[in-house]
Amino acid sequence: MTAAVSLIWLGLLPLLVQSLDFTYHNSSQLEAILKDFNSRYPAITYLYSIGKSVEGRDLWVFVVGKYPTKHTVGIPEFKYVANMHGNEAVGREILLHLIEYLLTNYQSNATVTQLVTNTRIHLLPSMNPDGFAASSPNDCDSVNGRFNKNGYDLNRNFPDAFEENKDPVQPETQAVMGWIKSETFVLSANFHGGAMVASYSYDNSYTVPPDNDVLMYLAQKYSENNLQMYSSNSCPGFSGFTNGITNGAVWYKVKGGMQDYNYIYNQCVEITLEVSCCKYPDPSTLQGFWNDNKVSVIEYIKQVHMGMCLDIFIQ
Ligand SMILES: *[C@@H]1O[C@H](CO)[C@@H](O)[C@H](O)[C@H]1NC(C)=O
Ligand SMILES: *[C@@H]1O[C@H](CO)[C@@H](O)[C@H](O)[C@H]1NC(C)=O
Ligand SMILES: [Zn+2]
Repeated sequence: MTAAVSLIWLGLLPLLVQSLDFTYHNSSQLEAILKDFNSRYPAITYLYSIGKSVEGRDLWVFVVGKYPTKHTVGIPEFKYVANMHGNEAVGREILLHLIEYLLTNYQSNATVTQLVTNTRIHLLPSMNPDGFAASSPNDCDSVNGRFNKNGYDLNRNFPDAFEENKDPVQPETQAVMGWIKSETFVLSANFHGGAMVASYSYDNSYTVPPDNDVLMYLAQKYSENNLQMYSSNSCPGFSGFTNGITNGAVWYKVKGGMQDYNYIYNQCVEITLEVSCCKYPDPSTLQGFWNDNKVSVIEYIKQVHMGMCLDIFIQ
């Protein structure tokens, strides 16, 4: 090749950016991917860390939005949180693929353009990076990596309105609590694995929440766009759900959970999404999980625009 021709080839290289692969990405890869997206789409993205895990890993949040760096009047704040149980790994990759989908479809797809223009979307792909580092693929049922490095279950670590939670607040929980206080989030979901269902508050009381109709509607908005979830019987041993949704406490009671904390103390509806029967399935299944969830993740974000006025109010 002559020098001139190779220069032309080098000039083309930046255009040939590879799309995100369907595999699990460790902490350093995840950080590199987020920084790469941020540098390729600086106008509509913002990357920040809300704190560090016990082992010192950053808890990265990636924002997609027309005004990504700060709140703008009239533009609601939305969030997705994944991987708070470190061994429940599918949501972590779903969020990375969602970022790529939003960025590559902005300005070419009208729906995505409108969503990114009118919403500030915050994505925390891993709330428990230490737990993820301690877990491994094809481990469907164990608790290896579920807890943070100090051995606490982060989804039992939040202040609880129904029962005193005496567990010391962990760095990851503290970071999320500070984050929730610093942004006016109005809608959220957190991703888990080990079942297929969208679960809604309350998690720690059989009382019917004042916004029960809204919560059920939102959970079903997610489930009805995921056929596996909606069929309610896709995981062995689970057949008691209807339309892929359940009240949290009716399924099993959770003290110190994140979704009740968001809803009760912060007037932000959060639902819990169980998206895979196996907690950490083989990487070859990831493309299928993305396909099964990609309509739901978009439809659920859209709901932030339906204009919710909640009845819940606890100071
Ligand atoms: C992350 O994965 C990459 C690619 O497999 C590997 O080179 C790197 O050592 C891993 N990093 C850590 C901290 O495990
Ligand atoms: C645009 O994106 C929406 C939301 O993801 C999707 O439902 C729709 O099929 C896309 N439109 C086209 C023309 O690809
Ligand atoms: Zn979980």
